[in-house]
Amino acid sequence: MKVRVDPERCQGHTLCAMAAPDVFELSEIDGHSTAVNEDVPADQEDRVREAAKSCPEQAITIF
Ligand code: F3S
Repeated sequence: MKVRVDPERCQGHTLCAMAAPDVFELSEIDGHSTAVNEDVPADQEDRVREAAKSCPEQAITIF
């Protein structure tokens, strides 16, 4: 599983980082999220799916 955050869509809602703090990191500058771990470890997959569902901007893509 891989994951990506679309920087154009992300509005800094932070729900992704709450759901999967080992995968998503919020920028200290603008509060927007990036996937620090694009290759999702197997034990983080459920959390990443949850994060993608919870993002109000649908900025998270799993592939
Ligand atoms: Fe951004 Fe969505 Fe996370 S808006 S900070 S990717 S919950």
